[in-house]
Amino acid sequence: MAPTSALFGASPDVARRVLDDIEAQFRLSKDDLVTITTQFLEDFALGLGEYNHPMAMIPTFVTGVPNGSETGTFLALDLGGTNLRVCEVELLGNHEFVLRQQKYKVSEALKTGEATALFDYLADSVDAFLTEFASAVPSSPTTEQPNPFASPSLAELDPEPAVPLGLTFSFPVEQTALNRGKILTWTKGFAAKNAVGHDVVQLLQDAFNRKHLHVRCVALVNDTVGALLSRAYTSGGCLLGSIFGTGTNGAYVEHVENIRKLGDSPARQNGGYMIVNTEWGAFNNTRTVLPTTPFDNKVDRESINPRLQAYEKFISGMYLGEITRNILLSLIDAAPKPLLFNGRSSSQLNAHYGLDTAIMSEVEEAWETGRVPTVPLTIDSAVRKEGKPAANGLPSADVASKIPDWQSAHFTDVDSLSQDDLARLERIRGIIIQRLGLDAADVSLRDAAIVRWASSLVANRAARLSGCAVAAVLVQTGRAKLGGGFVTDEEKIIVGVDGSLIQHYPNFNTRLRESLRELVGEEVEKKVDIGLAKDGSGVGAALCALQATKQGL
Ligand code: BGC
Repeated sequence: MAPTSALFGASPDVARRVLDDIEAQFRLSKDDLVTITTQFLEDFALGLGEYNHPMAMIPTFVTGVPNGSETGTFLALDLGGTNLRVCEVELLGNHEFVLRQQKYKVSEALKTGEATALFDYLADSVDAFLTEFASAVPSSPTTEQPNPFASPSLAELDPEPAVPLGLTFSFPVEQTALNRGKILTWTKGFAAKNAVGHDVVQLLQDAFNRKHLHVRCVALVNDTVGALLSRAYTSGGCLLGSIFGTGTNGAYVEHVENIRKLGDSPARQNGGYMIVNTEWGAFNNTRTVLPTTPFDNKVDRESINPRLQAYEKFISGMYLGEITRNILLSLIDAAPKPLLFNGRSSSQLNAHYGLDTAIMSEVEEAWETGRVPTVPLTIDSAVRKEGKPAANGLPSADVASKIPDWQSAHFTDVDSLSQDDLARLERIRGIIIQRLGLDAADVSLRDAAIVRWASSLVANRAARLSGCAVAAVLVQTGRAKLGGGFVTDEEKIIVGVDGSLIQHYPNFNTRLRESLRELVGEEVEKKVDIGLAKDGSGVGAALCALQATKQGL
């Protein structure tokens, strides 16, 4: 790769220049963040105005958010990036719920084979779940509510109804109703044939019918919409639901009148609000403002969807390990002298997607542990039962500003590090040897420092870019002004999040907040309550199934 191969000799100075050069490619200044967020807002406007834009801004036909008083028991099926889940969700009506779930694996063959095989497998999983958990039937909801999530009355329920199921389908779907929508494209490594262009609810219902299952798919929801609804259910309101996991995306509450592409349709004439699924993973597919490096280009070129989902490829768990692997390989292959692992690689490191983002997370965890407090996610009381109460998610500006800038290549000069840091590097060295299958003799402490540095560069850039999407939604919905200087009256701006990165990657949330603060100012950033939308896919699907049964779907 260009930055390393052209160099002659690898003296410490030359090596440092190589690292500095890579580092410069990954840094994002405040101006960069502003440019990216401005483009975000332009793309929001385009997608709200017309169909067929990469940032699809999909109307979801979900026209309200729950308030936590909803009740009922529903089945939910969740096909996301990594897992397939079948859940039984009991909404208790007091902001709490009980969820029972079973996870099933989706093989690579199913992901890329015929769609009917994939949907038959989904139906089989529901069948297996119903057999195992016989109580998975809709219960009689008890209260009437004046919102779209109000529970249906007993009279409205069919005496022997098929089990209503909400489907969380975490891929771009152009929805035309709560229970209808065509698959636009696959993402996150899925490529099942004869699915794109077809109605996903119909594909699933056909599979249920083929298997004679007494189950009816009544509602379709994206995982981001699920995150929004479930955070609203547990905390009484929510503006934005977003996922920072295997993939990334966000859904927010928009004025229907702004969704101009709905034209004069009844949905628009009714006015009010509607949740819009942005599909922001496809932001800036032309890469005019995204800070593309050669390492990113390689990820894109070798992916199954080149030139698509550009933003997702900078942000999400599926790709961060691969970007980092590309950096490490370029240092191993540096000419005329290698700059990493004595020029040796391993079969793991040579394999496409061979460096899991979870390894980066372990490496960073080993470096960060015991240093400074980070900003935790809010955990609502309804989902607090299993663990210890979490601190409020409102950030302390103090905490955030104390987080040192470990990103710098300077931290690869191990001779200048403290004993504590050397001990941390020793732990990282162990992780590298064990998880990447390298020979211990080829991994020095300096190598460990380089792997830590590369991981943090890639993850920090992802977190800062994630802040742009959140800031864009705040500006779009009138909660903030780009550049700061405006403060909403609202006490809190509630955001529901889910996904492995935001939940587990060290400092991801803190770095995202730093970026948000640079973009919208500290006062607004402090009001943003980013909290875990626990089990959002299951709870969100159940809430949509409730709305659908109410509408007689
Ligand atoms: C999909 C979105 C989904 C996101 C998070 C993306 O690849 O296009 O629909 O919400 O992943 O799972």
